[in-house]
Amino acid sequence: MTVLSPTWTALLYLVAAVCFILALKGLSSPRTARRGNLVGAAGALLAVVTVFLSTRLENVPAILAAIVVGSAIAAPVARRVKMTQMPQLVALFNGVGGGAAALVALLELSHNADPWARLAIVFTVLIGAISFAGSGVTFAKLQELITTRPVVFAGMRWVMSAVLLLAVGGGAAIVPTGSVVLAVVLLAIGLAAGVLLVLPVGGADVPIVISLLNAFTGLAVAASGIVLGNVLLVVAGTLVGASGTILTRAMASAMGRSVSGILFGAFRGGSTAGSTVLSERPVRSSSAEDVAVLLGYAQRVVVVPGYGLAVAQGQHTMVELAAALEARGVEVVYGIHPVAGRMPGHMNVLLAEANVPYESLREMAEVNPEFKTTDVALVVGANDVVNPAAKSSPGSPIFGMPILEVSDARQVVFLKRSMRPGFAGIENELLYDPKTTLLFGDAKESLGKVLNAVKAL
Ligand code: TAP
Repeated sequence: MTVLSPTWTALLYLVAAVCFILALKGLSSPRTARRGNLVGAAGALLAVVTVFLSTRLENVPAILAAIVVGSAIAAPVARRVKMTQMPQLVALFNGVGGGAAALVALLELSHNADPWARLAIVFTVLIGAISFAGSGVTFAKLQELITTRPVVFAGMRWVMSAVLLLAVGGGAAIVPTGSVVLAVVLLAIGLAAGVLLVLPVGGADVPIVISLLNAFTGLAVAASGIVLGNVLLVVAGTLVGASGTILTRAMASAMGRSVSGILFGAFRGGSTAGSTVLSERPVRSSSAEDVAVLLGYAQRVVVVPGYGLAVAQGQHTMVELAAALEARGVEVVYGIHPVAGRMPGHMNVLLAEANVPYESLREMAEVNPEFKTTDVALVVGANDVVNPAAKSSPGSPIFGMPILEVSDARQVVFLKRSMRPGFAGIENELLYDPKTTLLFGDAKESLGKVLNAVKAL
């Protein structure tokens, strides 16, 4: 027996759908993101409860057990994960969503004779499997379990073409026959396609692929909604698919990339190769006291925060240093690159946490012309986003990505621990530039030392 009438069910689904839309709206700004997230979670909870109250479910104990096990794993993982590991977590959760949609569709095949429904099943199984396997590879890349560099092998393009042909052929055979065995084969083909699609994507492009796979999962979920006749799944999946597509395009254009270039660039032998061989040329390293003098007697300083600042959790010390400089009459602003850190808006979130006033933040397009009149560009734990190879080395994995033009400043100071490269795994010529000074050490510790030295000036 079901508790809710179809009308009430439709009404509650509508409320849940509105929650999802409001959640997306809230997530578009750091100020409202927290509330947006809670509204989205409330919508999801309402949707799940509505399913229980409106559907004649079988295997309820097994469903409840799955919910308990899933929650018991996901909640502590989500609580414990560091901010810098968030993209991996998103990749993992996204992949699980795609995999779940594929499995549900597979199970529906045996009792669904309608050709349109079977077509939706084929689509869901294939796209869900691609998303599951592809997200697994992006997780492994971001967690550095495998190399973050593009992985290609001889004949890969032919293998990929063969896999795609098999997928189309398999799908076409499933629609008239409804063969579950073929659907399992299609699932395996989808898994292979997911791995092959993401392996050649290198370094700095991985986040864009996560967003693309997120859009794939959305589409798979929407198609599974058609299979199950559940309108809310169609709405939620479409929202994820559309927002993932918009984010993918926005990130790709911020990186000066096309989505096809990201996915197939390595096949064409183009932009993703790069070099890991680091040269042993001399660099100018300096003490905290010297850096304090450079900063303390400057008129204008632009701070460029990057992933390393987030790792070191040095944002509060950074703000104290800015305040000490401002007390000496130095103008301090922050130049924010759209892909600095490891997730969209990472630096904005980090600096908002340390209460950096919004007026001190400058977006890339705004701050770039200002470097020419800047005395010191203070690069704190950033590397790829200021690497001139993006403009000068056509073979480099970041070639074409707009960068913060710190080399236009009179002096450049890097705070980093070693000569190791950034996420894209390539050397940064700017580290060897005569106008560059390096202060080696953990960003938080270095900032603390420079702060004390500025106070002592
Ligand atoms: P990266 O290029 O990754 O450089 C980070 C630098 O921080 C490294 O040179 C590292 O050098 C230094 N570092 C690490 N830990 C540190 C610590 N505790 N103290 C001081 N320095 C430390 O960072 P970026 O310039 O922010 O660029 C971001 C990169 O990540 C881009 O390639 C981007 O495409 C990619 N990415 C972005 C996103 C999004 S959406 N934002 C998501 C995933 C990947 P040492 O090891 O020598 O200290």
